[in-house]
Amino acid sequence: MDNRKRTSFTGSIGFVLAAAGSAVGLGNIWRFPYLAARDGGGLFLIIYLILAITFGFTLLITEISIGRKTKESPLTAYGKLKKGWRPLGILACIVPMMIMPYYCVIGGWVVKYFLVFLTGSGLQATEDGYFTGFITDTSSPIAMMVVFLLLTVVVVLGGVDKGIEKFSRIIMPLLVVLIIIISIFSLTISHTDESGTIRTGMEGLKILFIPDKSSLTFQNILSTTMDAMGQLFYSLSVAMGIMIAYGSYMKDDVNLSKSVGQIEVFDTGIAFLAGVMIIPAVYTFMGREGMEASGPGLMFISLPKVFIQMGKIGNIVGCLFFAMVLFAATTSAVSILEAVVSSFMDEFKMERKNATLIEGIIALILGIVVCLGYNKFYFEIKLPNGAIAQVLDIMDYVSNNLLMPIVAIGTCILVGWILGTDTVIGEVTKNGEKFGRKGLFIIMIKYVAPIMLFALLIKALGVF
Ligand code: PHE
Repeated sequence: MDNRKRTSFTGSIGFVLAAAGSAVGLGNIWRFPYLAARDGGGLFLIIYLILAITFGFTLLITEISIGRKTKESPLTAYGKLKKGWRPLGILACIVPMMIMPYYCVIGGWVVKYFLVFLTGSGLQATEDGYFTGFITDTSSPIAMMVVFLLLTVVVVLGGVDKGIEKFSRIIMPLLVVLIIIISIFSLTISHTDESGTIRTGMEGLKILFIPDKSSLTFQNILSTTMDAMGQLFYSLSVAMGIMIAYGSYMKDDVNLSKSVGQIEVFDTGIAFLAGVMIIPAVYTFMGREGMEASGPGLMFISLPKVFIQMGKIGNIVGCLFFAMVLFAATTSAVSILEAVVSSFMDEFKMERKNATLIEGIIALILGIVVCLGYNKFYFEIKLPNGAIAQVLDIMDYVSNNLLMPIVAIGTCILVGWILGTDTVIGEVTKNGEKFGRKGLFIIMIKYVAPIMLFALLIKALGVF
């Protein structure tokens, strides 16, 4: 007989902060602003907002409901909901196991840049080839990854209320304060380049928010919609078991649909603020061309150059920025680890300590392989979507572009068609709460979401 008691978040705020901590991560900071600037500014933002309150809302409320209803981890919840659906749970548990190692590697890069700016040597980080030199080194990225992984492990070892919730309660408000300070700063800067052109942060803001007229073609709206959907899906941390795990720790008397609304506002708000923080700064110091860098290039190559151009204050801004990114990344990594740990605990009746150590060691070994993918095991391979990839990109592609849409489609079919939408509706309204977007939810989960997810999947496979 398994007599361990399932712990829970202390209440609504604790739950929302932990879930928002998961949702707000590297995706909000380095991918959202870049996509928004590339896809015609305002157009992307409008489409993203519409998708967030329809598509994103549906997936998020479904997963949290599954978690709270079954009080089980992702690995075991699907099988408990419906006999024969266990394989979907296995898949939902494999995704975070795949993401954890490379998320920690990137977390390690953030630790490195934080330390560089903290010790006042930000200038170093702007030298040509600095970033490549760092990630191709055989020891330093591994050491940094270990620091990041240990931090995550310590939080998860603390448990749901005393570890994850407590950590999120401290970190999330700090993150919000930092991002607001840097955004305001970013809007007040101006810079004169060699040719004498003056560019200001406010002009950069216009590029972010005002739709570029040339972007309003059918073709462009379609591709922007696909981009926004992919981004939203990743940003809300759905389809990888996390929201099921967190939902399983949610108290029965918490208003579920209200909490989901709050998580959405948090995640979208931080993404928009990240845009306000990054785009004006990059535009002011590097012009429109500077805005073409994406992902790691934007964060680890372009932004350090921007900070250093700010003069003396640059080291401080850089330090605050990377501290903020580190906060965003750790709360996300904690949630990835917890999805796996809760699965091990439920499936194998393990103690939290053992489950955390086992997954920590798996992540460590795979993380080392990812680091060595930039030196000892270096190769270049072309993915079906056209990108050139190393170990990290392959793990990212398989988990995000292939497995996650499959898990999400499976979840929509299970809830929309096999079990029926009342499974979620009943859970959301079980204390007599109102389910504000109920009609929308039913149409989305049965028809629209699976079709959209399918389109995302075949796009990833390079079909169009
Ligand atoms: N949602 C996080 C973001 O926007 C990313 C994430 C991925 C979090 C995987 C947890 C797990 O960056």
